[in-house]
Amino acid sequence: MGKTITICFTNNKGGSGKSTTCSNLGAAIAQTGKKVLLVDGDMQLNLSLAFFSENWVLEHAAGEKNLYYGIKKQEDLTDYVVHTPYENLDLIPSSTLMSSIEYELFTKWQREFILRKCLQKIKESGMYDYILIDAPPTLGGWVMNILCASDKVIIPVEASPWGMFGLANMFKFLNEVRQISPDLEIAGIAVTKVDTRKNYYKQTMETLHELEDIHVFEQIIRVDSSVEWSQDNSIPVVEYKRSSRSAKEYTKLAEEVMKLCQ
Ligand SMILES: Nc1ncnc2c1ncn2[C@@H]1O[C@H](COP(=O)(O)OP(=O)(O)O)[C@@H](O)[C@H]1O
Ligand SMILES: [Mg+2]
Repeated sequence: MGKTITICFTNNKGGSGKSTTCSNLGAAIAQTGKKVLLVDGDMQLNLSLAFFSENWVLEHAAGEKNLYYGIKKQEDLTDYVVHTPYENLDLIPSSTLMSSIEYELFTKWQREFILRKCLQKIKESGMYDYILIDAPPTLGGWVMNILCASDKVIIPVEASPWGMFGLANMFKFLNEVRQISPDLEIAGIAVTKVDTRKNYYKQTMETLHELEDIHVFEQIIRVDSSVEWSQDNSIPVVEYKRSSRSAKEYTKLAEEVMKLCQ
């Protein structure tokens, strides 16, 4: 069995496409036959909602088999894994109680490494090729946990004036994390929600390409209403409508990510 690669999706800006990118890359990678585990690290439950109905998600969020309890009890997360309706694709669901996870972590020994420890058995088993973790739009102790549990980080950035704002804080935070988790690598920036009709998009791309030592994935994700329809139906767009523009773009981005992260 090969090595499992853990990739997280972080950006302190909300609405930058983290959950959409995490869910669709996960589904697109699973379609190639690789085994993928998704970890929903956000109290907004969006990653879970990308695959399951609202009722199912709320039921799991209210129960004890979700990430919040796994972290609180510092348990091996193997028993928290559920199968999604798609082949090769599993999920650890989240809980709205994740809102108090910072408080739970506060008193714990080596609190930055709790998620890493809870995922260790799954990782060592080699049963997954990729673990993809969706992060909330913050930069606190919990996101630090997510980063410390990851080999690589992908930063989804929305191609809009405010999409770039705050990116410097994100890089500063990543440098801090690397002081305690030196092997963490920035895989790159994934540009999302692009409206190619707007000139602003070109400026975003130029600014991003000027960043030193930061890879920008070639495949951009354009604005596409199929993304919203697919989310409304709790189906990732790469399964919901394979012929859609965004499905094709996410499939290509998945190829790029797999090539870079192996
Ligand atoms: N390519 C896209 N086309 C259209 N809407 C999108 C696209 N990507 C994301 N969205 C929408 O933008 C919003 C924010 O995306 P999301 O993935 O939830 O961001 P984040 O997880 O960073 O907060 C969601 O409502 C989602 O439906
Ligand atoms: Mg999200």
